[in-house]
Amino acid sequence: MKLLVTGGAGYIGSHTTLALLRSGHDVVIVDDLSNSSREAVVRVGELAGREPVFIEANIGDAARLASVFAEHRPDAVIHFAGRKAVGESTQLPLLYYRENVAATVTLLETMAEFGCKRIVFSSSATVYGASEPPFTEDSPTGATNPYGRTKHMIEQILSDAAAADDELAVGVLRYFNPIGADASGRIGEDPQGIPNNLVPFIAQVAAGRRPELVVFGNDYDTVDGTGVRDYVHVVDLAAGHLAALEYLSGRPGFHVWNLGTGRGTSVLELVAAYEAASGIAIPYRIAPRRPGDVAVNYADPAKAQRELGWTAVKGIDEMCADTHRWQSANPNGYARSAG
Ligand code: NAD
Ligand code: WQD
Repeated sequence: MKLLVTGGAGYIGSHTTLALLRSGHDVVIVDDLSNSSREAVVRVGELAGREPVFIEANIGDAARLASVFAEHRPDAVIHFAGRKAVGESTQLPLLYYRENVAATVTLLETMAEFGCKRIVFSSSATVYGASEPPFTEDSPTGATNPYGRTKHMIEQILSDAAAADDELAVGVLRYFNPIGADASGRIGEDPQGIPNNLVPFIAQVAAGRRPELVVFGNDYDTVDGTGVRDYVHVVDLAAGHLAALEYLSGRPGFHVWNLGTGRGTSVLELVAAYEAASGIAIPYRIAPRRPGDVAVNYADPAKAQRELGWTAVKGIDEMCADTHRWQSANPNGYARSAG
């Protein structure tokens, strides 16, 4: 198949593009590089042995997007493009509604114009808001911050679009906490500025870029008082996209799947696993809870297993080892380690 991958230069998009190329699909990436590097795409091409087509553009630019569809005629879309920083979304909500929600409407209109009837969308466990884990796809949804609301709104837009077009097949993937990197150490997560997320922060402490980890709270009702999350290897996630894409063939309608392991890991358990994988001590100090954080969050991944035949196979130790391989080979990410 020929796939349009929006946001394909980003963290999850680059790993998924690699998996698609290795499976024999052709990939056209549209990415505005607002949170990524062209170098990621070059390295995906090296690893796969062939280049994806890369177009630097914002998917909210209807004219550019239409020209991409006219030239490449994709069979399906995998839609990663969007802004993802929760804190930033509270400061710049309109940017998030434009880049995530409005841009997705433009994408869907363009797909309709060119008769493209299949889309897989990157949603998030954040749509479960304040529900109680483990989350099934039927757990109540409702987000607690502007970023989460963009994901929730896009899910509703996709559901309405599928209801109005009996040929449109929509797959919504609700990721839990993606971490890890390709085993080559050539591609990985490269956050700009101070990382918002736990594992990139730990990785930068291990690499000597930051002096210590700040643990946000040790007074939760959990195994050791620190927050528990369902970390899932990005290479497993990539495989989930291929499975969803295949499932949607001949199955129009709106489908939702959780992509998580079903297992929770605390902050301190993760620190210990990273130390074991890297052989490097991670200094940390305990600080107050981060506003908006929940104590525990993990998936019930049974539906993805049942319908997609997808299960996360990589454990926390491998996630840490692969993150560390990427981080130590590229201590400053893509920017100053090209080549
Ligand atoms: P990322 O920032 O690495 O990738 C997103 C890519 O989209 C970037 O390359 C960015 O330059 C591009 N982009 C952003 N807005 C664009 C636009 N309007 N037009 C064209 N390109 C645009 O993020 P990621 O971690 O790879 O996340 C991919 C998707 O998965 C996002 O939609 C994110 O919200 C979602 N998600 C991520 C996580 C996570 O923890 N990483 C969890 C759940 C869901
Ligand atoms: C994990 C745990 C923190 C950083 C976020 C988004 C969510 C989704 C995934 C996109 C928590 C603790 C963290 C640090 C810490 N993204 N922590 N020190 O908050 O589960 O989810 O990313 O959709 O929408 O909200 O992930 O990695 O930020 O935090 O102690 O420096 O690590 O308190 O318990 P989170 P995270």
